[in-house]
Amino acid sequence: MAIIFDSEKRVFRLDTPSSSYAMEISPAGYLLHLYYGARVPDTDLDYLRKRLTNASFSASVAEPEEHGMSLDTTGLEYSCAGIGDFRISALQIRGENGNAATDIRYKSHRIYAGKPSLEGLPATYANSDDEADTLEIVCEDCLTGAEVTLVYTAFTKLDAITRSVRVVNNGSAAFDIERIYSAAVDFNSFDFELLSLEGRWAKERTLVSRPIEHGLQGIQSKRGSSSHNNNPFIALAREGYTEESGEVYGFSFVYSSNFSAEVEVDCMDSTRVLMGINPSDFKWRLEPGEHFTAPETVMVYSDGGVGKMSRTYHKLYRYNLCRGEWKTKKRPIIVNNWEATYFNFDDDKLVAIAKDAAELGIEMLVMDDGWFGVRNTDNCSLGDWYVNDKKLKGGLKPLVDRVNALGVKFGIWFEPEMISPDSDLYRAHPDWCLHVDGREKSIGRQQYVLDMSRADVRDNIFEQMSAILSSANIEYVKWDFNRNLTEVGSALLPPERQGEVAHRYILGVYELLERLLKAFPKLLLEGCSGGGGRFDPGMLYYSPQIWTSDDTDALERLEIQYGTSIVYPTSTMSAHVSASPNHQTGRQSSFKTRGDVAMAGAFGYELDLTKLTEEERGLVRKQVADYHKYYDLIQNGDYYRLINPTEDAAKITSAAAWESVSEDKKQVLLTYVVMRTHVHVSRYIRLRGLDPELTYTDTATGRRYSGALLMNAGLNITGGWHDGESRVWHFVAE
Ligand code: GLA
Repeated sequence: MAIIFDSEKRVFRLDTPSSSYAMEISPAGYLLHLYYGARVPDTDLDYLRKRLTNASFSASVAEPEEHGMSLDTTGLEYSCAGIGDFRISALQIRGENGNAATDIRYKSHRIYAGKPSLEGLPATYANSDDEADTLEIVCEDCLTGAEVTLVYTAFTKLDAITRSVRVVNNGSAAFDIERIYSAAVDFNSFDFELLSLEGRWAKERTLVSRPIEHGLQGIQSKRGSSSHNNNPFIALAREGYTEESGEVYGFSFVYSSNFSAEVEVDCMDSTRVLMGINPSDFKWRLEPGEHFTAPETVMVYSDGGVGKMSRTYHKLYRYNLCRGEWKTKKRPIIVNNWEATYFNFDDDKLVAIAKDAAELGIEMLVMDDGWFGVRNTDNCSLGDWYVNDKKLKGGLKPLVDRVNALGVKFGIWFEPEMISPDSDLYRAHPDWCLHVDGREKSIGRQQYVLDMSRADVRDNIFEQMSAILSSANIEYVKWDFNRNLTEVGSALLPPERQGEVAHRYILGVYELLERLLKAFPKLLLEGCSGGGGRFDPGMLYYSPQIWTSDDTDALERLEIQYGTSIVYPTSTMSAHVSASPNHQTGRQSSFKTRGDVAMAGAFGYELDLTKLTEEERGLVRKQVADYHKYYDLIQNGDYYRLINPTEDAAKITSAAAWESVSEDKKQVLLTYVVMRTHVHVSRYIRLRGLDPELTYTDTATGRRYSGALLMNAGLNITGGWHDGESRVWHFVAE
């Protein structure tokens, strides 16, 4: 068992291969946090508590058996508002008396093998019961009757512990949940840097780090999506950490809507981390007998820097979060027509692209935006999911059949959560979008957002989508979401439940995704939100790959893919070779470099294949062959970031390098891309994760190196390099 309860000390300890997590039940039933860090064998851990009374006017607990104990200074497992802990609180429930002081105490617990699913929510899972053990601690607030269950799962082979919370109203009156974080951890020092993934549209997930300070700091989304701006992830990295050394604690939220990750350092130099649903604009009413489940936070401990943390998330999210037919199945090489044609296409144009795809070994054509309603630009028809037969003459099936006859699979684009004011759906149901009566509706990309909290809206969209998907052999859907939520009100909910709309919205989206996958279990879903605006673990539960960014420029993608790889595995990052000059930046780059960069993701093309030169067609054939040759290594290998493109520490030239190492360490693929060069460059790349005892052969030159040499002296790549030049090395050990 990865979880033990020492009944004498009243201490719980959860162990993963390299970490331990411990808490204690105090005499009066408070849950006190004791330890999270490198693995320890002890349960006699109570001495770790900060025992301070009256520090900074803190109140003490009244119970005689807790004499001298202050909730404000001790580490707490799941702090509540209004009862003497003045730091940020994880839980706040407002009862029928109008007061929000919340006091939960230990009642019972249960330890069992395996991992439960979360009702209506995406979550990691155990493939078999021996992969994880679970602890449920039931606490109770006597006044409101709130029963609060803290759910912990420790993975047995990965350094990951998941957390979620369930509240049941066992009282006789309704209450409102005003804050319900999914994870809370108190550290007894503040010698950390806070890492996060920040960005904007077309520049998602740049890794940012800053020392934490006394007071509050953190990140959030209030956009109704996880957002381009702040990914639902933070890490605390112990001072002195590097990419491959030191302690790092990752927190990743399996959720696709408003979230908050808050860090507070108090006057006793303790650090509290909270991660969960953003309490801003959130309020959830629970009537007697009703229950609420908070989404899952995944905590990962690393004693090997940011790199080891990333590799743990990669494994967990690839094997214990992504699901279904396409979880680990080899993904088809795609050509998407968006940057090839935008809205300007018809069936013959698509067939022409498919014909070239077939000749070049590209396996699937994805028809992007513009095939439905009367949509020739982005100002209409969202919600009218029927074929524009002026563009697709004869309808969808004849087109799909023609493409299939060439030996090419067919995929299609939807934006199911949206409605254009200029659409038949809006004309029939103007109240189906999110809105607040009496207020003007904000417009984004000329569209409103459908109220996905409503079952009737979801039914309509499901029926329209399934009619399309059943009408032809469609094997892939790109599910887009191209604006954030505003005026978040629902026509069906009473005033006291309007604070629930944003969460009900995303539950509705999850329900629709689940329904679609149940009806079409073989479908490959690709998530998208103006590129990577909803690149989060919640969406990965349904769509095992997500369009990483609308910025397809190879050099820009180096930075975006670097940041994305902090949490997300290669298999999840859709990456396409697009045209040069690039449509977003105007930058020119070589076909080879564009291929080498896209190869570090779910690979494909985003250009007009009919316009390629003979030389470029030759390069496509080579890339397709490389994709098949290196697929296993890239998608199933361990991923190492070697040179950070956003902050090239060597300051020699600006560049990026990364590496995939097979599980048995016998195969290595190294990619190096120069972003901005000087006339001569002196550089050595030290490889990582190899077996020092093995001898590796460079398959291009036959040159042999020991693993020890490649890791310690490195590869000597001194020479003349050009801007945008890339190179790939493949090493094999016997
Ligand atoms: C979003 C997506 C693009 C494309 C367009 C179509 O911006 O990120 O890839 O699908 O929508 O409108």
